[in-house]
Amino acid sequence: MQARAPLMIEHRLIERMIAIVKRTLSQIEKEKKADPVLIDTAVDFIRTYADRTHHGKEEDILFRDLRNRKLSEEDQRLMNDLIEEHVLGRKTTRNLIEANTRYRNGDAAALPEIISGLRLLTDFYPKHIEKEDKVFFPAARRYFSESEDQAMLDEFWEFDRKMIHNKYISVVETLENH
Ligand SMILES: [Fe+2]
Ligand SMILES: [Fe+2]
Repeated sequence: MQARAPLMIEHRLIERMIAIVKRTLSQIEKEKKADPVLIDTAVDFIRTYADRTHHGKEEDILFRDLRNRKLSEEDQRLMNDLIEEHVLGRKTTRNLIEANTRYRNGDAAALPEIISGLRLLTDFYPKHIEKEDKVFFPAARRYFSESEDQAMLDEFWEFDRKMIHNKYISVVETLENH
């Protein structure tokens, strides 16, 4: 298995969540109200799975290793764009959490912010994923030997193995500090 395989498999699950978010979005627009629990669930998925688990592997392992390679100008530019998009995703998720909390506490004015946050996610993720699957991952593969690619795959598994523990350590820590 190539190192990019688990990343591409994760993309398929992220796409399924984005399809759910799209459906949720049209329902919110039709009914002029949102379900804060559903938004929480979607936001947790984006934060824990898409960002920490998936972007975590891309940034902390794949992009880190690519920094030690002499990338073509085009590949370098694309990697910078992808990193910026991860930052945008994080910012959007933070805003969504904040707007959802306000909405849950009775602030109806937070609804347009929820809508624009969800829309931003549905706009940028599919394009981001397509760029990685079709352009960046194949291009990145050329900078690694077979054994380097396999070493990266091993590191991906190790990263995943730790993820669930890190997630719940942070849950406990957050509650302890309240
Ligand atoms: Fe990415
Ligand atoms: Fe990705």
